[in-house]
Amino acid sequence: MPRINSPAELEELRKGILSKRDPNKPCITLCSGTACHASGSKEVAASIEEEIKKQGLSAEVDFRKTGCHGFCEKGPIIVIHPEKICYLQIEPKDVPEIISQTIKGKKVVERLLYTDPNTSEKIIHEFEIPFYKNQERLVFGSNGEIDPASIDDYLALGGYAALAKALSQMTPEQVLEEVKKSNLRGRGGGGFPAGRKWEECRNAPGEIKYVIVNADEGDPGAYMDRSLLEGNPHSVLEGLTIGAYAIGSHEGYIYVRQEYPLAVENVGIAIKQAEEYGFLGENIFGSGFDFTVKVHRGAGAFVSGESSALMTAIEGKVGEPRPKYIHTAVKGVRDRPSCLNNVETWATVPLIISKGADWFAQLGTEGSKGTKIFSLVGKVNNTGLVEVPMGITLRDIIYKLGGGIPGGKRFKAVQTGGPSGGCIPEEQLDMKVDFDELAKAGSMMGSGGMIVMDEDTCMVDVARYFLDFLSDESCGKCVPCREGIRQMLKILTNISKGKGKEGDIELLEELSEVTRDASLCALGRTAANPVLSTIRYFRDEYEAHIKEKRCPAYVCKALTSYYVDPEKCPACMICLRQCPAGAIAGGKNQIHVIDQEKCTKCGTCFEVCPPRFGAVKKISGEPVPSPIPEEARMIARKSKET
Ligand SMILES: Cc1cc2nc3c(=O)[nH]c(=O)nc-3n(C[C@H](O)[C@H](O)[C@H](O)COP(=O)(O)O)c2cc1C
Ligand code: FES
Repeated sequence: MPRINSPAELEELRKGILSKRDPNKPCITLCSGTACHASGSKEVAASIEEEIKKQGLSAEVDFRKTGCHGFCEKGPIIVIHPEKICYLQIEPKDVPEIISQTIKGKKVVERLLYTDPNTSEKIIHEFEIPFYKNQERLVFGSNGEIDPASIDDYLALGGYAALAKALSQMTPEQVLEEVKKSNLRGRGGGGFPAGRKWEECRNAPGEIKYVIVNADEGDPGAYMDRSLLEGNPHSVLEGLTIGAYAIGSHEGYIYVRQEYPLAVENVGIAIKQAEEYGFLGENIFGSGFDFTVKVHRGAGAFVSGESSALMTAIEGKVGEPRPKYIHTAVKGVRDRPSCLNNVETWATVPLIISKGADWFAQLGTEGSKGTKIFSLVGKVNNTGLVEVPMGITLRDIIYKLGGGIPGGKRFKAVQTGGPSGGCIPEEQLDMKVDFDELAKAGSMMGSGGMIVMDEDTCMVDVARYFLDFLSDESCGKCVPCREGIRQMLKILTNISKGKGKEGDIELLEELSEVTRDASLCALGRTAANPVLSTIRYFRDEYEAHIKEKRCPAYVCKALTSYYVDPEKCPACMICLRQCPAGAIAGGKNQIHVIDQEKCTKCGTCFEVCPPRFGAVKKISGEPVPSPIPEEARMIARKSKET
């Protein structure tokens, strides 16, 4: 690779790369992100390579393995450029047809297209699929276009031009002013203005300063940072280097959890390539600015994503938070000024420098500018990663992009902001999603996790689940967090087991206040959000559990029972055969009965009983009807007799 010494040389390089690429030549892009990898994209890739050769098309078609396309629910995904024909859930056996029909014959393979569940219409192009059509993919869009292991792919799309502009046309102060003017708020948690943090770090005394990427991402259900780092690592590196220049830092760290092997691998490759071209290292673009980056693999503790804990971990110690009377921007890693930002925050920076703060600030809401990537998961038809402008409503995200709730069920709540976020109910679906509105609703943006829940979700159980997670993940250093969360979890567990008492709700509220006010770090300070938000919006469910010993969603096992309605049971043996606990008695001509002592409340009988019979009943808060006597259980099999 030639070393690039100036913006002019970068432009020459880009032109050279583009001159070797025919924009009209078909290019098959295959998502090779972690989710698609898990659903077989490696085998599909092998098949594509083999089939291209077999059909003698090596010179006529390009093939590229890319990062996550976002629509992980439907992976493995193929998009054929330049038309952007999109095929979903591809298997190796589909490949010969794709090559012969679409690449050679210019015809689409109908059965592999997306089918709109509402209209049954087949959709050919990626950009017409509702999941994609309603997004604004500024930061995440290139993920589906480039091979993360190819710096040339990134350069072909204008990569490193923002860094070249910053280093050659702007002073560090001007870069800082631009980021401040854009009002970019951190995408990893609290939404703190990035420019203000950069400025504090820049102004802090000390020769040595660090800039750090937070790619710890331990929230259950969230994977946008991993996907961005896996799929487009150069965008993060470029943003980090621009930030380092503005702050006056010459050393950077990428803190990425060890359990993200593809992200670790791809960012390692990207650093090597950037060094070879001279985008990292000494005298970048001949500007005199030096900058190096190291990867630090995190041990996979949720609390290590907290800024001071992360910095302690970089020092080689246990990743525990410390009090932040003095900000980490002033005293962070090895007591030196350290600026930590989230993966998505850094990846947004090149866009701001290239297109300008004014362009960025026109997107989004008054207090929250730009776009945000969410991981949309749970009880929603289209799970995956979506990038939307700040200010979009929850309803649009869940229904327009997410395609609504599966199985015609009713929406109940959406949990935003990771384990310490809150649950937002149906009446707030038209709320505009931004940092401030989510906080007002008792939740938070967090890093962008969005878990959709349907009518079959018990909100007491949801609060218990998140508190269980947080109790495990609390480092235990401070008492309010360690004991407060543990006590709240104990009360919630009791409530879900039917052992709730009058006054428990008030006690939960009191404990929430103490953990919020007295905990050392934001893990404890925000841990009560799932409890408080579910009490605020679903208090009736808490009361039903405590006063009536009833779980309205039939989730809490101790409060739920199953029985067979003798009037409806056709003695078909389906539930009996599938009960894993052997708790169902009966026979071919004998009405079935569930032995309540043996029943583990797994719900298998309820799920397998054919809807046309509807014989297995779920009940809560009422006694199980006594089983009919043995002698009355025999039934006549009319169909056989006639
Ligand atoms: C318990 C805990 C875990 C966190 N985990 C992450 C994380 O995985 N990624 C992240 O970017 N920020 C995480 N944060 C927020 C960071 O402390 C910090 O605010 C953030 O990395 C700053 O970057 P930003 O300003 O770009 O958002 C976490 C905070 C807490 C309290
Ligand atoms: S991993 Fe393939 S679409 Fe997300």
